[in-house]
Amino acid sequence: MLNFTLETERLHLRPFSQDDLADFHAYAKVPGVGERAGWPHHQTLEESQGVLEAFIHARDVFAVVLKETNQVIGSIGLHQETSTIELKRAKLGYVLAQPFWRQGLMSEAAKTFVDAVFERHLCDVLEVSHFIENKPSRRIIETLGFMHEHDGEYVSKALNQRFPARFYSLDRDTYLKRKQL
Ligand SMILES: CC(C)(COP(=O)(O)OP(=O)(O)OC[C@H]1O[C@@H](n2cnc3c(N)ncnc32)[C@H](O)[C@@H]1OP(=O)(O)O)[C@@H](O)C(=O)NCCC(=O)NCCS
Repeated sequence: MLNFTLETERLHLRPFSQDDLADFHAYAKVPGVGERAGWPHHQTLEESQGVLEAFIHARDVFAVVLKETNQVIGSIGLHQETSTIELKRAKLGYVLAQPFWRQGLMSEAAKTFVDAVFERHLCDVLEVSHFIENKPSRRIIETLGFMHEHDGEYVSKALNQRFPARFYSLDRDTYLKRKQL
């Protein structure tokens, strides 16, 4: 479904390809990156290869590429949740390589990505959640205008752990109306 590309001031967002394996593994293997998003850091190149193949096959995750170096420094994507005839819902997820944190890069990527998702009508409702102590993710979500739905628990089967988390949603009509103001 993500069969296009996007550009921001410092980034390209584009589908992953097999050539991205080394860059992807370089950040996915770092302890404490994936764990903040609910998945364990990768132990082997083969593990990253398997996930990369799933991204390529599902076409639901973009590589976040730094224009300056052409390096893949993260990902942003949609995970289809439920779909009825009336309403398509998807979950937003993102991760950035640790050396690039705190430079406003994911804020830049996420704004352009969410704009495209709603303008291209890829879904009607976006959902997102963050672990309670994940302040940068919380700020990104708030700045995008997501509505706080509830606080609860995020169950990560991959980590075999439960995390206190905050859950949000954003509907297409509200987002596009706000943009026109
Ligand atoms: C979450 C993540 C993508 C943020 O990316 P980033 O590019 O560093 O974020 P930004 O620089 O765009 O900052 C976003 C906001 O968080 C704030 N922020 C960044 N790091 C922060 C920190 N350590 N503590 C408090 N606030 C922080 C920024 O000031 C900014 O807020 P503002 O818009 O009010 O100025 C990155 O930390 C990451 O990949 N973490 C691991 C995976 C993860 O948590 N994914 C999300 C799961 S829900």
